[in-house]
Amino acid sequence: MFKPVKITDNIYSVGCRDWDIRDFHGYSTYSGTSYNAFLILDKQNVLIDTVKKEFADELLDNISRIIDPSKIDMVISNHTEMDHSGALPAVMNTIGKDKTVLCSKMGLKNLKSHFSSALNLKSVEHGEKISIGKHTLVFLETKMLHWPDSMFTYAKEDKILFSSDAFGQHYAGDCTFDDEIGESVMDHAAKYYANILLNYSSRVQDLLKNVSDSGLEISMICPDHGIIWRDNPGKIIQAYDRWSRQEPVKKAVVIFDTMWNSTAKMAREIAKGVESSGVNVRLMNTRKCHRSDIMTEVMDAKALIVGSPTLNNGIFPVIADVITYIKGLKPKNKLAAAFGSYGWSGEAVKILNKEFQDMGMEIVDDGLKVQYVPDKDDLNKCFEMGHKIGQKIAETC
Ligand code: FEO
Repeated sequence: MFKPVKITDNIYSVGCRDWDIRDFHGYSTYSGTSYNAFLILDKQNVLIDTVKKEFADELLDNISRIIDPSKIDMVISNHTEMDHSGALPAVMNTIGKDKTVLCSKMGLKNLKSHFSSALNLKSVEHGEKISIGKHTLVFLETKMLHWPDSMFTYAKEDKILFSSDAFGQHYAGDCTFDDEIGESVMDHAAKYYANILLNYSSRVQDLLKNVSDSGLEISMICPDHGIIWRDNPGKIIQAYDRWSRQEPVKKAVVIFDTMWNSTAKMAREIAKGVESSGVNVRLMNTRKCHRSDIMTEVMDAKALIVGSPTLNNGIFPVIADVITYIKGLKPKNKLAAAFGSYGWSGEAVKILNKEFQDMGMEIVDDGLKVQYVPDKDDLNKCFEMGHKIGQKIAETC
């Protein structure tokens, strides 16, 4: 059982940890996740966000360790997605259905679409301020980070940013704060960015610029998942700046599937060729590596090299899954190349090249096709292809 954690004299983290979840709508969550919610005690008591529906009782139990839930005066919904609003009807039933739920303009529409039960919804404008006593809350619209209704709530006097999904990580563990978990949090945060926010990188850049231009001071960031950044919020802001610029590092990711080990042999030689140029490489079998782990590596790689055998005139299903997933997240500034073994028709390389084109990637090699089993000459060609791509990466990064 999670118990509330005091984060300032009058603000508590009251959310829940989901230790069991391993698949978060297609994202592998080996460390589970948390659904963070925050309670501000003041003349008007405010709950910021709720949790997944299944955790409603746990949330209410956490709140009741601090105050009688019926003493909550209003709820702020920073974002409608069900991991944060699923428990909203249960919360409103307990605290009083007439209590106000504040949300963005789009939140008004989205919350109505999700819940048939009547909620006393009220929308706030970007930049609008409310006083709840000693605390002033400011609302900042963050449309498409990562939902149309997303917004942040800023507690002005404490300089705390309640950032909804942004700056989060899927992590459930013993730690609540960045100074408790140490450096490992950055791996969770990078995976989260790659799989949830990469597609919205230009909006992240705009947001960071606006924050910088407005001189908004941030002493703590409280996201809706994972740890709270109280010691060094600047660290995750800098990481978001870096990731959202999509400036690649000297790294290639070679992903492949294989039918009778021929494409796997090609993949290993290509990876060796990349390494021979002094460039880092990740070799990832799509049947052993989860798509979200592949995406995390692809995020900052300069080159994506994909191998698929030809199956029924197409590419392998798991490769199609991973390519569809990568395409949706719109990685930028990538070189690409394809390879694969085939029996009689051999369309896989052509299909992959089309996918690279559609993703705006620069195809650096026409692709390498080998019939049935690669011989020594074929493997040398694979090595050379990897070496050539590695050199190109080294020149451009
Ligand atoms: Fe954590 Fe977009 O929900």
